[in-house]
Amino acid sequence: MTVVALGADHAGFALKEVLKGWLIAQGYDVVDLGTQSTESVDYPDYAVAAGSTVTAGKADRAVLVCGTGIGMAMAANKVPGARAAACSDAYTARMSREHNDANILALGARITGRDTAIEILETWLVAEFAGGRHARRVDKIVELDRSRDQESPDAQTR
Ligand code: RB5
Repeated sequence: MTVVALGADHAGFALKEVLKGWLIAQGYDVVDLGTQSTESVDYPDYAVAAGSTVTAGKADRAVLVCGTGIGMAMAANKVPGARAAACSDAYTARMSREHNDANILALGARITGRDTAIEILETWLVAEFAGGRHARRVDKIVELDRSRDQESPDAQTR
């Protein structure tokens, strides 16, 4: 069973609720990290929570929703091991899995309608990483996290 973490800010709250209902109806386990209303909040808080949930192995994937998907993806990608893709069409969503092994999908509730968002999400969830030459490239992204960790002053005192 795939566990999907969900996160949204106020702009993404309504779409997050729609996607949550769809995921549960499809049989996915959902971890809802909030927000739970349209009261204004800061998207990085939810992006980092979702990224950490995935990289800690508490969820297989995460879906983030803000106004455009851009801020969520930017913030989530600061979590080592997170590969977040902001997608507004199904082709990009499929490529983000097949070529980039994206483990986080970011959607924009102000630019993507509900039906399209579900189509993007379904495509993204079923698409598999193609491996091969793409694995070599994704490995280089993973290595960026490792080298940054080794460069940090904290790493020398651990
Ligand atoms: C909130 O107004 C908006 O900035 C946020 O939802 C998101 O679109 C940021 O990238």
